[in-house]
Amino acid sequence: MTGVQERKIRSWWNRFVRRYDAADAEVRLNTRLKESHTLRVCRETLGLGRALGMSPDDLRLAGILALLHDVGRFEQYARYRTFADVKSENHALLSLAILRREGVLQKLSPRTQSIIRRAIRYHNRAELPAVRDRRLLLFARLLRDADKLDIWRLALAYYAAPPGRKNHAISIGLPDLPGVTPEVLEDLREERIVASKNIRSLTDLKLLQMGWVFDVNFVPTLRVMVRRGYLEKMRNVLPADDAARGAHAIVRAYVDRRLAGSPESKECPAHPRLM
Ligand SMILES: [Fe+2]
Repeated sequence: MTGVQERKIRSWWNRFVRRYDAADAEVRLNTRLKESHTLRVCRETLGLGRALGMSPDDLRLAGILALLHDVGRFEQYARYRTFADVKSENHALLSLAILRREGVLQKLSPRTQSIIRRAIRYHNRAELPAVRDRRLLLFARLLRDADKLDIWRLALAYYAAPPGRKNHAISIGLPDLPGVTPEVLEDLREERIVASKNIRSLTDLKLLQMGWVFDVNFVPTLRVMVRRGYLEKMRNVLPADDAARGAHAIVRAYVDRRLAGSPESKECPAHPRLM
């Protein structure tokens, strides 16, 4: 991707986002929310990409991928007044439809277009599907890690906000019930992504979000997470009972093991040294 192509796509994105300013105050507020989320994911992407030793050209592509990954969110909120895909439509596919409709990628090489499209398509799946293409895998993994760093930040800010100041477009309307659903705890014990079908309460949702560490691809991502105290902050918004404390300890032990470079750490074929 050339510098000119990058600038054209950035300028398209700026114009695209401003279209949603014409809507009512609620749409405008949530447009701002996704606009700032996207710009932070871009920064997280570049930070992680540099830590992984990516070339300037690859960083440029990763930055554009991050900028475009959630364009469907703006239309999703304007159309359905929700960010819940289950109540509206898959926002990753909506992003792809918008990029196609607007011809945003058409000047890029077929290979670059394919990486961007597929990484966007996979970014919101519970888990990354089996991908053989190492280059695609690197960009798809980087986007998912960068996205998670900012979603943790957003979720923590939401949980810490006083009740009257919460933006309910972020939550998915779960009841704040005591206890933890046993299947959720079982998924964490097995160090696997918590199945969303078992989420029954806000505590379950917090544990699901904590359990995203099992899907983190790169050690630099875990380092950022630890440096910002995300796990401790999450523990502080969980109920002070044994189940929640136990769940936190499982996740913490997993992160410590990965940071210590245990041989069970996830493999990263593109950057084996950095895992
Ligand atoms: Fe997304």
